[in-house]
Amino acid sequence: MSPQPTLAVRVLEKRDAAIDVLSLVLVSADGAPLPPCSAGAHIDITLPNGMVRQYSLCRVGPAGSAYEVAILRDPGGRGGSACAHRDIRVGDTLAISRPRNLFPLVPAGHSVLFAGGIGITPILAMADTLHARGESFELHYCSRAPERAAYREALEAAAYARQVRFYFDNAPEQGRLDAAGVLAALDGDAHLYVCGPAGFISYICEAARGAGWGEGRVHFEHFAAPAAAAPANGNGSFELVLARRGLRIPVGADQTAAEALLAAGVPINLSCEQGICGACVLPVLEGVPEHRDVFLSAAERDSQRCFTPCCSRARTPQLLIDL
Ligand code: FES
Repeated sequence: MSPQPTLAVRVLEKRDAAIDVLSLVLVSADGAPLPPCSAGAHIDITLPNGMVRQYSLCRVGPAGSAYEVAILRDPGGRGGSACAHRDIRVGDTLAISRPRNLFPLVPAGHSVLFAGGIGITPILAMADTLHARGESFELHYCSRAPERAAYREALEAAAYARQVRFYFDNAPEQGRLDAAGVLAALDGDAHLYVCGPAGFISYICEAARGAGWGEGRVHFEHFAAPAAAAPANGNGSFELVLARRGLRIPVGADQTAAEALLAAGVPINLSCEQGICGACVLPVLEGVPEHRDVFLSAAERDSQRCFTPCCSRARTPQLLIDL
């Protein structure tokens, strides 16, 4: 589905990183180095059942020798994680995209990293990178239980282990994460990074807002779209007007804008199809989008100058798109 160029990789290792978490080490199928990337990057993997899913790179081998990803089994998902756990074998060749980084580290006097569950994957890469650069950071890692915390042992053995604090739901006596307290203790040149379930991200972002942190210092990445509340009036139909092609494309109440575009023969980039990755973002010239993604920033939403056709809709009868 995604038109992004693909790379062929071979599965070098498949192992359990925690209960219900699978780790894959991927190497180039032809022996050439894999593309360089920075902490926070993710790749799309085409799974054996044809689904395309995004996974953060939690480790990158020296000189592009390998990528490592971790995949949580999600019984409530659409089948991607179950397929990965069940069907991927050591030695298989998989198609992946080049890495993209929508969650990069920025220069800061101090970085505070928050991971909830499988959200540790980009956060681990960030911690390794910050440590290698000799930069100031701390990591707060929340999980249901120690045996469900992927990379816990690696973090406990890391040279920066003293900068890592664990919080387990089944061991409250060891302390609960007090995000407001953590943030209140930091000064104005610190940045925070959070990845995890939507509720966890909301909790951290609320704490940051409450502590007076500006949006520019708060960075987050969802690994699954939060469950969207059904709009009270359901999905309305609307029309996409493609300015450069001179096309008018109706979007029915029972289809996404992306589906309508593809059905009309208009190629668009698609990847997550959940409003997470930003692959599909289109520029809007007129009209008011109804944003249902978690990718666009508040400033981008307020500008009304772009929208994600995989999940977002329109508040006006038409959207004029620069396409
Ligand atoms: S395809 Fe990922 S945000 Fe639309």
